[in-house]
Amino acid sequence: MIKIRNLKKSFDEKQVLRDVTLDVQDGEKLVIIGRSGCGKSVLLKLILNLLTPDEGYILVDDIAIKKIGQKPLFELRRKFGFLFQSAALFDSLTVAENIALPLVEHTRLSPAEIAAKVAEKLTMVGLPGIEDLKPSELSGGMRKRVGLARAIVMDPKYILYDEPTTGLDPIMAANIDQLIIELNRKLAVTTIVVTHDMQSVRKVADRVVMLHNGRIIYSGTVADLEQTADPVVRQFINGEIDGPIQPKPQPD
Ligand SMILES: Nc1ncnc2c1ncn2[C@@H]1O[C@H](COP(=O)(O)OP(=O)(O)OP(=O)(O)O)[C@@H](O)[C@H]1O
Ligand SMILES: [Mg+2]
Repeated sequence: MIKIRNLKKSFDEKQVLRDVTLDVQDGEKLVIIGRSGCGKSVLLKLILNLLTPDEGYILVDDIAIKKIGQKPLFELRRKFGFLFQSAALFDSLTVAENIALPLVEHTRLSPAEIAAKVAEKLTMVGLPGIEDLKPSELSGGMRKRVGLARAIVMDPKYILYDEPTTGLDPIMAANIDQLIIELNRKLAVTTIVVTHDMQSVRKVADRVVMLHNGRIIYSGTVADLEQTADPVVRQFINGEIDGPIQPKPQPD
């Protein structure tokens, strides 16, 4: 499991995470919600050790990701599959080459074994047989699926999704949600989804946490979320203009 304790992260004078403490249980589908710019992607990057916290720590399967050396760190990273907010495919490579990248870099599998793994993962995300296409030939939803095939190619224990349904039509978004649920079940992985798509939240989440002003202000089931009396949470989930959250223009 993942244990996050008293995590703090600032950029220049801007405090993004003020004090985040959170446990992610094995096998659960945890959804993190919160306003744009509240630090959701930063939190995922801290978990992946792509950023370092200013204070606090994260334990993954009881190993502190801050203190370990390069080799164990790599072993730890292998436990994670990550679907980037932008899918992040290499346009000059084919679909198969994109998915195979982690295998080519980090395993000694033969080309035939790699091809078999790529085919298996493409089938798993519902896109069998598109190995030879280039990313430019794919729709947004297909790109997300290919990104997801790459995220699971090393058989991770944890899959992290950053805005998996953003920019997709409602049917494709529902498809991706379905896929997230299926992969969680079939691969017996722990799933963390960052989103502000409330449809996704309702469909996917075993548990929802809301990040606001650098802290977790809500943790509970979707059913409880809908019933909460907290005015900040209510305003967010109902998308209301009036309430305690006042729009602040983001610097970027
Ligand atoms: N590497 C960085 N350097 C400086 N500031 C950063 C960096 N990464 C993130 N930030 C800042 O941290 C804040 C939180 O960013 P983050 O990307 O986590 O937001 P988010 O909750 O994921 O928003 P969105 O829903 O729009 O994706 C923003 O103000 C952003 O500008
Ligand atoms: Mg983000």
